[in-house]
Amino acid sequence: MSDQHDQTDAGLSRRNFLRTATTAAVGATVASPFEAIPGLHAAGSDEIRVGVIGCGGRGSGAIRNILQAAEGVRIVAMGDAFEDRLTKSVESLTKRLGSQFDVPKDRQFVGLDAYEKVLAQDINYVILATPPGFRPMHIKAAVAAGKHVFAEKPVCVDVAGARTNLESFEEIRKKGLSLVAGTQYRHFVPYIEVMKRIKDGSIGDLVAGQCYYNAGELWSHERQPQWTDLEYQLRNWYYYTYFSGDHLVEQAVHNVDAMVWAFGAAPVGAVATGGRQVRTDPLFGHIYDHFTVDYEFADGSHCMMMCRQQEGADNKVANEFVGTKGRAFVLPKYYITGDRPWKLDQTVETRLDNAYVQEHAALISSIRAGKPLNELKQVNETSVAAILGREAAYTGKALTREELMASEQSLMPEKLEWGPMAIPPVAMPGETTL
Ligand SMILES: NC(=O)c1ccc[n+]([C@@H]2O[C@H](COP(=O)([O-])OP(=O)(O)OC[C@H]3O[C@@H](n4cnc5c(N)ncnc54)[C@H](O)[C@@H]3O)[C@@H](O)[C@H]2O)c1
Repeated sequence: MSDQHDQTDAGLSRRNFLRTATTAAVGATVASPFEAIPGLHAAGSDEIRVGVIGCGGRGSGAIRNILQAAEGVRIVAMGDAFEDRLTKSVESLTKRLGSQFDVPKDRQFVGLDAYEKVLAQDINYVILATPPGFRPMHIKAAVAAGKHVFAEKPVCVDVAGARTNLESFEEIRKKGLSLVAGTQYRHFVPYIEVMKRIKDGSIGDLVAGQCYYNAGELWSHERQPQWTDLEYQLRNWYYYTYFSGDHLVEQAVHNVDAMVWAFGAAPVGAVATGGRQVRTDPLFGHIYDHFTVDYEFADGSHCMMMCRQQEGADNKVANEFVGTKGRAFVLPKYYITGDRPWKLDQTVETRLDNAYVQEHAALISSIRAGKPLNELKQVNETSVAAILGREAAYTGKALTREELMASEQSLMPEKLEWGPMAIPPVAMPGETTL
C-alpha cells in the first residue's frame, strides 16, 4: 500500500516512483550491494534482535534494509494494528528472507497495544514505523523498555508529542541507548558532501533558500461496511492531521530537514498559505493538498518551502541554498556555483537505497561500539519546524516557534476506541487557532 521511498527524482510522481521502488525493494534478496560494516561480526550477545512496530510499506522495507546493513541481525517480533497488514508482511518476507527472519506466530502481535507486546519480547532494537501520531508514545515506551530505537520520520505531529520527545531524548542519553531517525538524507553521501561544503563556507553566509516537494497524490482505501470510523481513519491515516501531521510534516519533512541542516538552526518563525484545491473529497479527511511556507531564521535570512500532492501538476523535489558567495544545489543534482564551484564526483552513488541501509548501519555500529548515537533532538527540531509551517498555514498567522512551543497543542485523540470518530473540519485561516 505504501512506500519504501518518500523522496523521488523530480520527474517521477511519488506513486509511480513507489511502484518502481517497491518492486525493486521486494525483489531484492539478502545478498546486498553493501558491504557489512567492517569489523562487526556479531555473535552471541552482540546479536541485534529486532522488533518491528507498524508493518506496512516502510516497516517491511526497513526489515530488508537492516538485514543488508550488518551481519548478526535477526528479526524476531512484529506488531501491527491490523492482522491483514501483519500477515501480508510476514508472508511476503518469509518467502524472500532466510533464517534471519524468525517471526513465528507467537511473536506476531495485533492491535493498538501490539507495541507493548513487541517491546516485552527479547529484543534490543526496535523499528517504529506506524503513522507518526503514535511515534512519541512508542519512542517513550521503547526507551522505558531499554531498547535501541530506529524511529521513522516525522517523530511528532504536535507540540505535546515534541515535548514528550525531548523528555525521551534525555532518557535515551541517561540510559546510554541509541536512536536513529528515518530522515535518511543525514546518512546519504551526496547530501553530506554538499552540506559539508556549505558548512565550510563554500557559498559564503546563507541568506536564502528554496525547497520543493511538489509531487502527486498517494493511496487511499475505500470504506468497507465492517469498518468502524476509527478503522477507516487508521487505514487512511494519511488524511488525518493527528495521525500524519499533514503532508508538509509527513512527506516534505525531508526538505524541511535539509533546510534545518543547511542553515544550522531551526527557523524562528513562519508565514504560510495552503489549502485543499484538488483533493477536496471527504475521502481525503481534512488535510491540505498544498502549502507554501516562508521560514525566517534568527539572523533574518529566509527559506521558502513549497509542497503539494496534486496529480497532474508538475513534480519538483529539490533544494537550493543561496549564499553571499554562491549557490548550493541539493537534489536531484548535487553541485555548487559561485566563487568555489564544485560538483559531486560521478563515482558517488546517488541512489537513495543506500541511505535506507546506511541509517541502520550507523545505528548498529553505534550500539556495537558502545558509542551512543542519539538523533532524537535533531529530528524533533525538524518535525517542529514542519509543524510550525503547517500551523502558520492553518491559522493564517505569522507564527513564531516560541508561540508554537508555548502552546498546549495536542492533536492525538486521548483515547482510541474502535467506534465512532468525527472528522475535524478543514483548517481555515483566520478561524483556526493553535
Ligand atoms: N523515510 C522515508 O523515506 C519514509 C518513506 C515512507 C514512509 N515513511 C514513514 O514511515 C511511517 C509508516 O509509513 P508507511 O508508508 O509504511 O505507512 P503504511 O500505512 O504502509 O504502514 C503503517 C502501518 O502501521 C500500522 N499501524 C497503524 N497504527 C498502528 C498502531 N497504533 N500500532 C501498530 N501498528 C499500527 C498500519 O496498519 C500499517 O500497516 C510513517 O511515519 C512515514 O512517514 C518514511
